[in-house]
Amino acid sequence: MNTTESLKDYQRVRLLAIRSLFEIIEQSSEGTVIVDRDANIVWMNERYARRFGLESAEVAIGKACESVIPGSLLREVVRTGRPILLDMQDTPKEPLVVMRLPIHDDAGAVIGAIGFALFDELHSLSPMLKRYLSMQEELASTRSLLRSRQTKYNFAHFIGTSAASLEVKRRARRSASAESPVLLLGETGTGKELLAQAIHGASPRAHKAFVSINSAAIPHDLLEAEFFGTAPGAFTGADRKGRPGKLQIAQGGTLFLDEIGDMPLPLQSKLLRVLQEKEFEPVRSNEVIQSDVRVIAATSTDLEAAIKRGEFRADLYYRLNVLPINVPPLRDRLDDLPALSEAILEELRSQHELNTEALDLLGQHAWPGNIRELRNVLERAALLSDDLVLDAREIRAAIGTFTPVERVAPVIEVVAHETFSEARERFDRQLIESALAQCGGKVIEAAARLGLGRSTLYKKMVALGIAESL
Ligand SMILES: Nc1ncnc2c1ncn2[C@@H]1O[C@H](COP(=O)(O)OP(=O)(O)O)[C@@H](O)[C@H]1O
Ligand SMILES: [Mg+2]
Repeated sequence: MNTTESLKDYQRVRLLAIRSLFEIIEQSSEGTVIVDRDANIVWMNERYARRFGLESAEVAIGKACESVIPGSLLREVVRTGRPILLDMQDTPKEPLVVMRLPIHDDAGAVIGAIGFALFDELHSLSPMLKRYLSMQEELASTRSLLRSRQTKYNFAHFIGTSAASLEVKRRARRSASAESPVLLLGETGTGKELLAQAIHGASPRAHKAFVSINSAAIPHDLLEAEFFGTAPGAFTGADRKGRPGKLQIAQGGTLFLDEIGDMPLPLQSKLLRVLQEKEFEPVRSNEVIQSDVRVIAATSTDLEAAIKRGEFRADLYYRLNVLPINVPPLRDRLDDLPALSEAILEELRSQHELNTEALDLLGQHAWPGNIRELRNVLERAALLSDDLVLDAREIRAAIGTFTPVERVAPVIEVVAHETFSEARERFDRQLIESALAQCGGKVIEAAARLGLGRSTLYKKMVALGIAESL
């Protein structure tokens, strides 16, 4: 055999090898598909067509590969000319292991691609596949956990255009990009938690967890484990395996410490360590864990008074008080009432609206429960009313215990050319008139409120020309 002949022989063997390879793979594979340079299917075997719910392979001819095989990457192979030697392809049944190769013409140009679904006999690949499937499961559960840890509110949910509200929003927005702790100060129901969520959502940590823990709602002896988690074997029973604390769950994200004024002193020391050293130890473990959380704290109690009583650590207070935000009570931003009421009714998917008298009445109540109370009142009124327009009577009934706002004493201005005694008379008149108004015109009550005898008040009213029947 001369060299040319043996070379011809090699070529023949090579061609036969190529053909056998194709045939073997095609027959033993779960599916084979060939596309042209536009990634349209030109051939597909019957088995593969059936897997994707087609009656026969003929139906697939001429169709874009992705419309038959969702998620197919054959178009990419045609475009790049690069094979994808091993990959997973999701199908309506279980995932398949696939190989995708470009097809070249004699001149070397890419004219299409071929995809083989190699295995369905998943157990032949089971170690690898088990890992793939378990990773997928883990991913799905992490995602859903994260979703449940994600926030529900953003800054748009904080309704209010009064000067006080705008200032709160401005400070909260600015704090979002910072890493230092935020301290939200305000009565219950003023929107502290809403703001905490909004700050988290606008911060670089938004895609990580927002975890809250309320020191007033959890028994003090359980708080530490709740915070820091427990080491395996620290307790018997359910905790034998150890449990992650809120700090671990919040890693990378934001930890919201609600009612921090109620936090017991020993825990305050440990929290200070988290803030300063960025580390903590799970209960009864010797392991030190690095922590990466941003802290937003909130309280409805006066922390400075708590420090004086020895109930709150001054050093923790200073560490937390870097970006304090005072959230004003509703009675100090009554201008927000119309917009708030409208937003709440809308959120309740209620068709109701308030008439003028009803809105006026809202402005006369002191709202000790703030916006949470407003929400309950509107919800109750809307439930009980047969009419789509809520009036003052219905609102009054829904409020329950009505607490009138203490009107601030009128400011006495210096009026040009007014003498001291004229100004004094003006002041006396304003004072008596508003006392009478607050007491529904009853002179005896107004006198008591002003600390005057009844006849003294009468004399003053006569002198000032104030009529009794206010
Ligand atoms: N400015 C606001 N605009 C709209 N809704 C608010 C506002 N502030 C509070 N709320 C609503 O009032 C309720 C109480 O708010 P929350 O944040 O829990 O108050 P806090 O944490 O101060 O007790 C929530 O339903 C919240 O959505
Ligand atoms: Mg709260």
